Amino acid sequence: MADKKFYITTPIYYPSDKLHIGHTYSTVQADAISRYKRFRGYDTFFLTGTDEHGQKIEDKAKEAGVTPKEYVDKIVAGIKDLWKLMNISNDKFIRTTDEYHEKAVQLIFNKMYEKGDIYKGEYEGLYCKPCEAFWTETQAAGGICPDCGRPVITAKEEAYFFRLSKYADKLLEYYAAHPGFIEPAHRETEMVNNFIKPGLQDLCISRSTFKWGIPVPINTDHVIYVWLDALTNYITALGYGSEDDSLFKKFWPADVHLIGKDITRFHTVYWPAFLMSLDVPLPEKVYCHGWVLLEGGKMSKSKGNVVDPVQLAERYGVDALRYYLLREVAFGSDGVFSNENLINRINSDLANDLGNLVSRTVAMVCKYFDGTIPAEREAGEFDDELKALAAETKLNAEKYLDALNFSESLTSVWKFISRTNKYIDETAPWTLAKDESGKARLAQVMYNLCESIRIISVFVAPFMPETSVKIRAQLGLAPVEDWEECGVFGKEETYSVVKGDIIFPRLDPEKELEELASLNKAPSNPLKEEIEGVAKIGIDDFAKVDLRVAEVKACEPVAKAKKLLKLTLDDGTGEDRTVASGIALYYKPEELIGKKVVLVSNLKPATLCGVESKGMILAADVGEEIKVIFVDGIANGTKIR
Ligand code: MSP
Repeated sequence: MADKKFYITTPIYYPSDKLHIGHTYSTVQADAISRYKRFRGYDTFFLTGTDEHGQKIEDKAKEAGVTPKEYVDKIVAGIKDLWKLMNISNDKFIRTTDEYHEKAVQLIFNKMYEKGDIYKGEYEGLYCKPCEAFWTETQAAGGICPDCGRPVITAKEEAYFFRLSKYADKLLEYYAAHPGFIEPAHRETEMVNNFIKPGLQDLCISRSTFKWGIPVPINTDHVIYVWLDALTNYITALGYGSEDDSLFKKFWPADVHLIGKDITRFHTVYWPAFLMSLDVPLPEKVYCHGWVLLEGGKMSKSKGNVVDPVQLAERYGVDALRYYLLREVAFGSDGVFSNENLINRINSDLANDLGNLVSRTVAMVCKYFDGTIPAEREAGEFDDELKALAAETKLNAEKYLDALNFSESLTSVWKFISRTNKYIDETAPWTLAKDESGKARLAQVMYNLCESIRIISVFVAPFMPETSVKIRAQLGLAPVEDWEECGVFGKEETYSVVKGDIIFPRLDPEKELEELASLNKAPSNPLKEEIEGVAKIGIDDFAKVDLRVAEVKACEPVAKAKKLLKLTLDDGTGEDRTVASGIALYYKPEELIGKKVVLVSNLKPATLCGVESKGMILAADVGEEIKVIFVDGIANGTKIR
């Protein structure tokens, strides 16, 4: 059926820092809904990826002494590992540095340009001359460059603009004709009142002050500035603008763009306008979820309070973390993460309610019937109530999942789990087991419990895929394939159960909180811990680094790179060797000439700001400064080991 397709996207993440539980929350939601849709028979395409261009990445790469591509490659590998760990079932991972994306973005630029929606103008902003960078008012607070601390000036540069203003009325008309396009609804009100009605400005979509971006096809002095590059990933990933656009034809328009509330404007104003310009239909829905906050507010690297999903998933299991995030953050609102909440949820919802239900039931079937429920059964009080709630829960779980309301969907499932636990107390199997006349009723009670647990294993499968598999293994069942099986009470003829490990062991809250706090607290001897934390290498690894004494023969600044010096070294071979080093803020060229330094001679050559650097020189980080290591009285070319 043509309408049984489902295309969902997450934002593409900046590979500038390590991802935290907030990012994980975004992706886990998309994963849960994708799994649910697949179970319901939808041909599903789930896209995630990374947003890799821009000045910030270029700067960080320069600082690290690597190319931007080398810099992002490493972080992107870590992001992919995180999604693997979190059991994310994306169908594609797009990188904005992928060649097909870069080509398609250039084609999109040309299309918009030919239509008259892109024009050349002047971008005016706060500019730091020595750093050659534009800053926003917030970044350059007090008129000071956040990078070098010098005053910024108001400056203009030539740039390309997208005629966003032209689309203001069309956007308003579109919102009015498509209720539910932006969810939750208050985000639409915010966009209309705060951005569109006060007057939409045209959007600057190119920069010429840095290079790390997709070149503007009609003027390669410019690169396309982030949002046109980033947002279009949602269609380029499907082959839009390439020779094979069959996925685009099949899956576009997207059914949901799932995004965090902070990027609402880009997705509900810029992106629809870009699509209108391209004559491409708009997505069905942009869903703006809330944020995972900490008790003290936002997580941030500078505050040092970033919560690491890997640490939590490795300690408590991937499913416990997935469950916590999806249950704790209410629909469209922010949620507050705390170790205490996490441990309480694991103990009460997962260990007590769900885990206990499964282990008690399996243990009773083993104890009373040697693991296999007999066919002779007798219906009784409470059975119909349990069945009715199972049916009602299916409707609620679906209603809320279809609305992307994960926490309510889970709340309704937990109501059924509690009801099933209560059914054990009500039917008192231990009393029925006392004499033979209770056996048929006991068999029915056990059967109803197993059926309920089977149904629960379907309800939880989109949220906790591994847990669902483990539960079903204890019931002797294969993993869920079809959501609809949760609508049939009485599907299995009987059950032969298999005892398994405890699915969610109970945690000792006091001990856990203490250990989590000590894992994350500032080290008492930071230097010792830092040194101990560095991965150990063997002597063979060290021997791979060829260190030599070399003398600085000449030294000069590098145009357009405020932090770099170009050094010409005598490495004893009789041939000059060029090395670029990020020490210009700490040394004047004349201070280095004639000095002997330690050269890493076998580092692969890299081009830094146009200088082909063959090797690097050793230096120490001393507080905010960098100090080069100088040596004395040793001949050039001497090996250091
Ligand atoms: N690269 C852009 C998105 C481009 S989409 C065409 C970007 N990247 S990001 O890495 O900064 O953020 C990615 C997503 O993570 C955003 O949806 C953002 O809202 C979300 N989150 C970042 N911190 C978050 C929390 N603390 N909580 C929940 N989501 C959070 O923006």
